[in-house]
Amino acid sequence: MTPEIINLSRDPAHVRHGSNIGQPLTRRDGILKVKGEARYAADNHPPGLLYAVLAVSSIARGRVTFLDVPAAKRHPGVVEVMTPANRPPLAEDPDAKTNPFMFRLDLLQNDKVRYANQSIAVVIAETLEAATEGAALLAPQYDVLPPRIGLDSNESFVPPVVGIGNPSEIRRGDVEADLAAASKRIEATYDTPAQYHNAMEPHAIVAAWDGDRLSVDTPSQGLAMAQGRIAGLFGISPANIHIRSPFLGGGFGSKGFISGPQLLGILAARLVGRPVKLVLRREQMYGPVGHRAPTRQTMRIGVDGDGVLTAIDHHAKTVSSTFDDFFEPAADASHTLYASPAIATSHEAVRVDTGTPLFMRAPGEATGSIVLESAIDEMAFACGMDPLAFRLKNYADVEPISGKPFSSKALRQCYAQGAERFGWAKRPLAPRAMRDEAGLLVGWGMGTATFPALMFQAEARAVVRSDGSGVMETGAHDMGQGAWTAFAQIAADGLGLDLEQVEFKSGTSDLPDAGIAGGSAHTATAGSAIHNAGAAVIAKLADLAMGDKRSPLFGAGNAGVIARGGRLHRRDDETRSESYADILGRAGLSAIEARGNSAADPAAQSNYAMHAHGAVFAEVKVDPDLGQIRVTRMVGAFAAGRVINPRMVQSQLFGGMIWGVSFALHEQAVMDCRSGRILNANLGEYHIPVNADVPSLDVLTVDEHDPHVNALGIKGVGEIGITGSAGAVANAVWHATGVRVRRFPIGIDDLVMGLTA
Ligand code: MOS
Repeated sequence: MTPEIINLSRDPAHVRHGSNIGQPLTRRDGILKVKGEARYAADNHPPGLLYAVLAVSSIARGRVTFLDVPAAKRHPGVVEVMTPANRPPLAEDPDAKTNPFMFRLDLLQNDKVRYANQSIAVVIAETLEAATEGAALLAPQYDVLPPRIGLDSNESFVPPVVGIGNPSEIRRGDVEADLAAASKRIEATYDTPAQYHNAMEPHAIVAAWDGDRLSVDTPSQGLAMAQGRIAGLFGISPANIHIRSPFLGGGFGSKGFISGPQLLGILAARLVGRPVKLVLRREQMYGPVGHRAPTRQTMRIGVDGDGVLTAIDHHAKTVSSTFDDFFEPAADASHTLYASPAIATSHEAVRVDTGTPLFMRAPGEATGSIVLESAIDEMAFACGMDPLAFRLKNYADVEPISGKPFSSKALRQCYAQGAERFGWAKRPLAPRAMRDEAGLLVGWGMGTATFPALMFQAEARAVVRSDGSGVMETGAHDMGQGAWTAFAQIAADGLGLDLEQVEFKSGTSDLPDAGIAGGSAHTATAGSAIHNAGAAVIAKLADLAMGDKRSPLFGAGNAGVIARGGRLHRRDDETRSESYADILGRAGLSAIEARGNSAADPAAQSNYAMHAHGAVFAEVKVDPDLGQIRVTRMVGAFAAGRVINPRMVQSQLFGGMIWGVSFALHEQAVMDCRSGRILNANLGEYHIPVNADVPSLDVLTVDEHDPHVNALGIKGVGEIGITGSAGAVANAVWHATGVRVRRFPIGIDDLVMGLTA
């Protein structure tokens, strides 16, 4: 196996002296990426490599009755065809589930087909072309059963939990009584479609066995979890598995768990005894690697005569697969944003013949918040109030569902600063009241953004060497969000060194477990571990110095020391200092190391509600005759605790806002209810915004100091950007046209009838 090459840029333009946290450094891996030198999983070509291609099911429910394996094997270059008949044994049933973070997999365990695009065979060949042709020659035949597709296609039930372990139903107060007594009520039902992650980099794997040792190149948002899952399935020690995932071309939740196709790559390598590469084709990503489930959500809200919310009832119906459980926690979006004495959230689900839905960028929050924000907009208008004034009137000073205080919440500042930048004060209350010079209808809408500030567990290892340099290690994941840069900044400050003096090692499974890159919590979680590892190694250095009479720091114990510029300084007299090199040299040590951990603080968690917040304002223009919609500008103001790297944070928030545009106007997987197949399983017809669809974006970050979330006060910004943005765009479309569309994405066909009415 070729070694990974992670030669991160040492370009002096990236280096700032002094405090690294808070600096808008450019991506340290940016030049590698621009030059095409960043090595993604599929870029690896170990000697003797074979190519594996999946054959996938063209039916959604039934059984494979025939595969022309001999025809495929006769094709020149084809080495082997893996089917349920010869798939190497596994130590664990792929349909077993022993914890909520484990998902059932399709690993050729039998001939059953549970969804379209399910893997039914793997063809392994000397070339990609031969493997592709071999897969085509399999000409599968099936026993077909009618698929159940869509929210009404099966019996509905109340899922035991939604998301990961959230109660399916939560009630506070008496929603029914408060709705009955309300001075105004609205009830409306909204539909959101299935969406697919569509990371630019498809799921890919290069796997090589050496006896019972396994070497893997594959993108992962959770290296330790992937390592554990492989270990369980193959019955080998995690220590025998080395996974490299230095770069991911996006993940969005679909690479949080190692997927069936990736594991088939490992099985294929096992079967043929040679290294194997398996890369999903774009259309093969619509099934086995998760998706955002469709929802139908009903909102009922009531207000008193002053426009004060008295009841919020948010009910969501969603789907899961027939063989596993993931329930999009859409209604939970109504727990935190608006004060109301009565709040009820509930879920129901049906089982359909699709791949299991999964976490996808702001799971629950994205689907739920576009609905909540639409309903709030509808109610504001019903009350004759400006949507921002209505939100301020119903501002939650404590978390509505729990009654807990917020660990910090600078949402008022987000509203104020975002509105100011956007020019919201000039917005007419009535819809269809603005036109531009060209006669296009102009609408302004807003939405509130929120996402929980989560913390998982992570570990990091810090080393200071006698030459004055440092090392920081943690198996973190860079999906493009800038982990290589932001973590190195935290490491440098934690070690009291300049960025170029710190070697930051990451992205492989042999390093300390950095937790998962998910839940917008990676910077907070792994960053805290890095910070703590730095503090721990500095404390060891300080002990060495302060206990040594020859050190200028001798006896500084009570005052303590500060680590800066590769030296420890007495806190009470910073002119008295000593270099790390001198401290270690005198102690006869070539290096000193320490580990640091991070985890959620249970006391803080039980005392406070922890969320990031934001306010998004959008302008759209709609052609009054054709119904064509263009988003022309958006302003987002976000408060998410401490910002490690403002450039990366802005980029994440831009990405989230663009996804909001996509959710409101572009994305949907269209299912053929007869075949159960997805009709637009490609990037030509599964619409996502292109440059021409992306408006002028403006992001403000509002200062927020949060002493409770974690030592560094980081809340995370990966997912929040979608949440207010989708609703803001939808509300702007209403404001432009006066047509309220409750089915997303909003399209021309939804508007034309209303526009001409
Ligand atoms: Mo995410 S859906 O936590 O990558």
